[in-house]
Amino acid sequence: MKNQESRRGFIKKSALAATGITIVPSLAVSGLGHRAPSDKLNIAGIGIGGKGHPNLVAMNTENIVALCDVDWKYAQGCFEEFPNAKRYRDWRKMYDEMGKSIDAVMVATADHTHAAIAAHALAMGKHVYCQKPLTHSVYESRLLTRLAAKQKVATQMGNQANSGDGVRQVCEWIWNGEIGEVREVHAWTDRPIWPQGLERPMEKMTPPDTLNWDLFIGPAPERPYHKIYTPWNWRGWWDFGTGAFGDMACHVLDPVYQALKLGYPEKVRGSSTQINTESAPQAETVEFIFPARENMAKVNLPQVRIYWYDGGLLPNKSELLPEEINLMADRLGGCIFVGSKDTLITGCGGFKPFLLSGRIPQVSPYLRRIPGAVKYVDGPHEQDWIRACKESPENRVEGTSHFGYSGPFNEMVLLGVLAIRLQSLNKTLKWDAENMRFTNISPSEELKIVTSDDFQVKDGHPHFNTQYAKFNALETAGEYVKHSYRRGWDLPEMPA
Ligand SMILES: NC(=O)c1ccc[n+]([C@@H]2O[C@H](COP(=O)([O-])OP(=O)(O)OC[C@H]3O[C@@H](n4cnc5c(N)ncnc54)[C@H](O)[C@@H]3O)[C@@H](O)[C@H]2O)c1
Repeated sequence: MKNQESRRGFIKKSALAATGITIVPSLAVSGLGHRAPSDKLNIAGIGIGGKGHPNLVAMNTENIVALCDVDWKYAQGCFEEFPNAKRYRDWRKMYDEMGKSIDAVMVATADHTHAAIAAHALAMGKHVYCQKPLTHSVYESRLLTRLAAKQKVATQMGNQANSGDGVRQVCEWIWNGEIGEVREVHAWTDRPIWPQGLERPMEKMTPPDTLNWDLFIGPAPERPYHKIYTPWNWRGWWDFGTGAFGDMACHVLDPVYQALKLGYPEKVRGSSTQINTESAPQAETVEFIFPARENMAKVNLPQVRIYWYDGGLLPNKSELLPEEINLMADRLGGCIFVGSKDTLITGCGGFKPFLLSGRIPQVSPYLRRIPGAVKYVDGPHEQDWIRACKESPENRVEGTSHFGYSGPFNEMVLLGVLAIRLQSLNKTLKWDAENMRFTNISPSEELKIVTSDDFQVKDGHPHFNTQYAKFNALETAGEYVKHSYRRGWDLPEMPA
């Protein structure tokens, strides 16, 4: 690969001499749509048994040179798809052995390991495609955002609808003033479709020989193996996932974040069905308050409240909902922008937008369209990242969901998760985004969370037994914002 790298370098220098232009993207110099094999990226995939597999298939215009998974049985299908790729269980070993020959990494592990895997790749100067939610904590999101900017590499969060035509159309309509000023948005999903609201299993199990449980846990606190955690179900467990909100909001809220240019919220409040220390609750609501943003030429962006619903909850706003509307028509979710002139309703990721009035806005498309991204599919989003990887930093058109965009967006999503976890404080939390801390939790406040709950009828009488744990609220909030990593696991330094 060293040869390929120097060859790319050589091609760039030659083009430079020929054109007199300072930097030329490698794709441009490979000529008229033809790409020499040496222009292919060498990509490593980490976490390949689930979503990582279709992500890599969507990248197989390139060389898939290495695959890493902690569960070789679950990963078997992907190993077979790319038989020439070197196989690993531990991404750290893979980076040590193949770091020099890898150009880019694709990360699709459970949420709690995204940050360490992606951050070390960024620190090595690799391009990164990382699944959503980008990270498990706000601090980790900030770190990835800053590292990506410092290293000038191409990045993309895996919220594929972000490359779609839908979100672009939503932006063009709102920015053209078609619905007026937006002060209220409602967004929802029917997730979870995996177990949530669970207590930690007590049953003892031995991990199968094909799974390295210790590597799966990674930076999270140690716990005994149980088959309920991986694959897939880790989503519902706080140490590994972020529940339905963290899972789906990066898709559903993307058009909201983008079209309203949200930035950081100043206040957030969450509530849910019973919440415990172990797993996300079965149904959640969150309210975010964002301050006014800079007005645009044709529309003002005043303070806005964003309301989130999941687990079967939906906005009960009869004045906003025509009788016949199925809010889960795409089986993913959707959102309603309440404007001063009209109301805009979209499916997940901004697809199929329409106005409540029935009027069809006549706005000529002008935002960059990604070829093929006409519906919720894999392929165009991955290829937009690959295009960006091949452009020089100076001339790069960033991937649509590059970390400069998706990092702050992901912080918003994770703040919603924090508001749910901190709900027993019974207050609207004030957020100091710059310093990544809540400003209205006092040092002496206590957070009370259910550890176990039991109801039995004994001898004809109902018996309730609900146990709670008490924590210092400020310290716990700090730990949620920036996790302590288990011994042996770390993150690169936060760039200034
Ligand atoms: N964009 C989308 O449409 C979409 C859809 C599904 C999942 N996802 C995201 O993709 C990621 C993976 O989700 P999934 O549904 O594929 O989960 P999954 O459990 O089905 O697959 C995760 C894979 O990662 C492996 N893994 C876990 N920890 C690892 C580690 N430390 N090192 C190497 N391999 C490891 C697992 O063994 C498994 O093969 C999540 O972040 C999820 O949110 C995105």
